[in-house]
Amino acid sequence: MEIVIVPDAAAGGELIAAAIADLLVRKPDALLGVATGSSPLPIYQALIAKVANQALDVSRARICQLDEYVGLPQGHPESYRAVVLREVVRPLGLTETSFMGPDGSAEDIAAACADYDRALAAAGGVDLQLLGIGTDGHIGFNEPCSSLASRTRIKTLTQQTRVDNARFFDSLDEVPHHVITQGIGTILEARHLVLLATGEAKAEAVAQTVEGPVAGIVPASALQLHPHATVVVDEAAASKLKLADYFRATYAAKPHWQGI
Ligand code: F6R
Repeated sequence: MEIVIVPDAAAGGELIAAAIADLLVRKPDALLGVATGSSPLPIYQALIAKVANQALDVSRARICQLDEYVGLPQGHPESYRAVVLREVVRPLGLTETSFMGPDGSAEDIAAACADYDRALAAAGGVDLQLLGIGTDGHIGFNEPCSSLASRTRIKTLTQQTRVDNARFFDSLDEVPHHVITQGIGTILEARHLVLLATGEAKAEAVAQTVEGPVAGIVPASALQLHPHATVVVDEAAASKLKLADYFRATYAAKPHWQGI
């Protein structure tokens, strides 16, 4: 696992957007897995700026969703489908035809989950999956004690996650209890995992993810099992890393051609 400590969230966004740009040069129709929430917004801003400046052609890129609320009516502005379309797909000049996600309003949720895993495989698998991390160490919506082999399925949000996400809704009562999330096993199939964590509130979860044991209680620790996982953190999110100086020195000495 590579840990990159950046000065702030904007620098993290630029670094990751540059890696996505490199990927799209190598593979113009790459399948990009996107996360929602606040953490990845600087990445999307940096990507959108590159497209606006004609420094990047994303016209053949494909975008897929990591997770979705269950039970919000179709088109609800806080459904993750609506959020990704609004914040990523359309600003990049793409349309829904380049986009896939699980159906959180399906009658048969179990079938929708299995369909989504099949669709990801049929699309050739995710080339680069962006991840945020919850204060409880979740990735996607794989809450603590998720199976490290899990596939896309329904999960129940912890009260902590519902409280963390209440800022997107009018009240805590409106935050759904259930979600569909790519499983940890599903996420680990992506070719490159890139997690961006910013702010002091994430410092403990980041330390456990990077320097703790691989354990279902900290779902993000499963990144240690992936051959190409990059964790990008700002100084605040890095503040509890014992090996921070080693990570800084390693990245400073890294040959430029390697990228992340
Ligand atoms: C949402 C997702 C979640 C968030 C996490 C952090 O698609 O994957 O794991 O990344 O809850 O959310 P923020 O970034 O809002 O702190």
